[in-house]
Amino acid sequence: MKIEEDTYLYKLNDSVYEVGAKDPNRRIFDSLVYMPQGTTYNSYLIEGNTHNALIDCVDPEKIEVLISNLRAAKVDHLDYVVMLHAEQDHSGGIFTILDLYPLAKIVCTAKVKELLAIHLHLTDENMIIMKDMDILDLGGMSLTFHPIPFAHWPDNTMVFLEPQKILFSSDLFGAHYTDENSTLVMSDIQKKAARGYFSEIMMPFRKIIAKHIASAQLMKPAIIAPAHGAVWLDPEVIFDCYKNWISDEVIPKVTIPYLTMHQSTEKAVFYLAQHLKALGIEVELRNLTNQPESLLIETGEMIYDLVDASAVVFAFPTVLGGPHPAIAYAAITANAMIPKTKFMGMLCSYAWASKATEVINSVTPNFKCQRFEPLIFKGLPTQEDFVRLESYAKEIADAILGKNKGL
Ligand code: FEO
Repeated sequence: MKIEEDTYLYKLNDSVYEVGAKDPNRRIFDSLVYMPQGTTYNSYLIEGNTHNALIDCVDPEKIEVLISNLRAAKVDHLDYVVMLHAEQDHSGGIFTILDLYPLAKIVCTAKVKELLAIHLHLTDENMIIMKDMDILDLGGMSLTFHPIPFAHWPDNTMVFLEPQKILFSSDLFGAHYTDENSTLVMSDIQKKAARGYFSEIMMPFRKIIAKHIASAQLMKPAIIAPAHGAVWLDPEVIFDCYKNWISDEVIPKVTIPYLTMHQSTEKAVFYLAQHLKALGIEVELRNLTNQPESLLIETGEMIYDLVDASAVVFAFPTVLGGPHPAIAYAAITANAMIPKTKFMGMLCSYAWASKATEVINSVTPNFKCQRFEPLIFKGLPTQEDFVRLESYAKEIADAILGKNKGL
């Protein structure tokens, strides 16, 4: 098969093409993750000397793009459809692909097969099932399979193409990022998008994926081709990023997710932030309810902060005796990410009796960290409360700076 030089397919080398779809206008994923730059569903076509293979089948919403790209590439048959992961953004288009290429055989691990049956009701007794280190020969090149469980589902799989040394890494090393021009973006924007993706998708599994990262690096890939975002032409860039992100190291930074109903909480937050900064602590303020869409966006920003923040301070008013639901959402979401944060505090403005801080403590069991006594004040903070806030800032800063000695 010959692909014309002037097609819009992205050519990784003479035998490998990115044929997936961009989705620049999608703003939310899993009804949870905000994507300011959209995303891509990468799919790769490999033309061996004797067999060809398609890796992943894009989100069903974008299957027309994959089909159009395969037609542009003059693909009149497919030998193999390699499925690295059963989540629908990579598997949902498979029925259309199998309709168009009925002789194609699905190649995947037993775990992918199991999850395809659960999530797509796709069953096929003719699937070729691969185990760790099994090799799919394409003629002059081959794909070696490496399951990478819990990066981020139990079924994620990497495949390594040799001799080209391209690592197709599924969601690992991905980024929700797209631009109009290219799958190739080597920039700080790409690293920032990859960090955001890591924080909301991979961070809960950071202990588990350490070994997947190590084994990927041992392969010495020339290119990493993930399932989302741009390819990494210098894999050491993303290896270095991931090593930092999965480590236990933190920096002297406090993230403060907060909301305010009548500016009482906000006054306390600003005062605390001002004093933390004066003590040499970086502060990120995340106003969860400033705009109607802020809860989703700012919760995502808080998760992004938690990749390396020393401390989090949840700041909120009460509603009907409990925590404002917006802070409960942020706390439950943060807890799910199993952050490495070393310290946790709370500011709470209440009007009458409250068990709000107990509720937030109860929904954050994954914060295996030192918890400062919550600072609770009635209504608008008084002069006495500001003195307490100043002490709170000092307590937090001392703990952080003591904890970070030698960093
Ligand atoms: Fe991009 Fe887990 O799917």
